[in-house]
Amino acid sequence: MLAMPNAYISGTGMYVPPRRVTNDDLAKDFGIDTTSEWIVQRTGIEERRYADDGVGTSDLAVHAARDAIEKAGIKKTDLDMIIFATLSPEHCFPGSGVYLQQKLGLCEGNDAKFVPALDIRNQCSGFLYGLGTATSMVKSGACKHVLLVGAEVHSHALDLSSRGRTVGSLFGDAAGAVIVSATDEDRGVRSWHLGADGRYADVLAQRIWDIRRFPFIPQDDKGVGQIQPEMMWAQMEGKLVFRNAIERMMTVLMEACVKNGITGQDIDLFVFHQANLRINQYLQQHLGIPDEKVVHNIQRFGNTTAATIPTLLAESEANGKLKRGMKVAMVAFGSGFTWGCAIVDW
Ligand SMILES: CC(C)(COP(=O)(O)OP(=O)(O)OC[C@H]1O[C@@H](n2cnc3c(N)ncnc32)[C@H](O)[C@@H]1OP(=O)(O)O)[C@@H](O)C(=O)NCCC(=O)NCCS
Repeated sequence: MLAMPNAYISGTGMYVPPRRVTNDDLAKDFGIDTTSEWIVQRTGIEERRYADDGVGTSDLAVHAARDAIEKAGIKKTDLDMIIFATLSPEHCFPGSGVYLQQKLGLCEGNDAKFVPALDIRNQCSGFLYGLGTATSMVKSGACKHVLLVGAEVHSHALDLSSRGRTVGSLFGDAAGAVIVSATDEDRGVRSWHLGADGRYADVLAQRIWDIRRFPFIPQDDKGVGQIQPEMMWAQMEGKLVFRNAIERMMTVLMEACVKNGITGQDIDLFVFHQANLRINQYLQQHLGIPDEKVVHNIQRFGNTTAATIPTLLAESEANGKLKRGMKVAMVAFGSGFTWGCAIVDW
């Protein structure tokens, strides 16, 4: 019997839209009753990027995907699958994966390749759910190269008013991508660990429609859909999310270390989901992790949900913080609740 290949990350890429929105801009341009001091103190966020009107999630993703394909040294037609993690897909259906496939040009010409396109709906843990899926696809022999993207256009679906300030000030738009490839070398994704606790499904949610109701969005007498603000915008119990994020991220990281027979000290780089700098600082402090082993981009991009980890990987490779041979821990937590961790020998 042939040995199972290892799955490693052969290329990383990222893209953020050019429009910068600082905390002061939220107050000045959007009239939100907030201050930069409040946001920085509670979250570490200084600015975020917003996509222009007319730009969708797969438009951001296509740049990140092209970048990752180039870094991996493959052609787009070498891809065997697309996995697209997002909570802000263009539409209710279809998912953003098929739009990305089309925008990558995989559906045209003599070398058109109609690879499967899978959307992952696991919010801030979406990238790690995708990494677990991509790794399994590669290790099983079903795929040699999987394009895994985490991308969000949050800004178009945020209540950018004082009413929505708690959620509105946290999120930004971005796309990150990796290529997960087969290798016979002794490297790559060593293990992945995923979890969920559906008791908290409504604690952080955007329930634009309710499919239990007929019609699923209430209509006025002219047949025009009517969505109340509490349905239209994401709702969050911030303190409960904060506490659970710390507990679950800590536990899943420990689980991963035990599984790999390592301790935190064996890990060279910690890539934590970027929901709140204070969450990550708490983890860092309690686990005794030195500053040089942690990377952040929440200060510049805000919480970009499925895009936080792949954008950090791309940035860290580009600036030399992430190098071949390093042991990397990626940890995430988000709506669902869902969480995950992956240990990767880079
Ligand atoms: C969102 C978060 C920063 C809020 O901090 P908090 O200390 O819990 O603040 P609260 O929600 O209790 O709000 C405290 C006050 O600040 C106000 N406030 C909220 N957002 C504000 C803002 N951007 N600017 C100014 N004031 C704000 C609230 O309205 C509230 O005012 P009130 O006491 O008059 O009602 C924090 O709960 C958090 O980070 N939670 C985790 C969020 C997260 O990780 N989400 C993504 C998961 S993947």
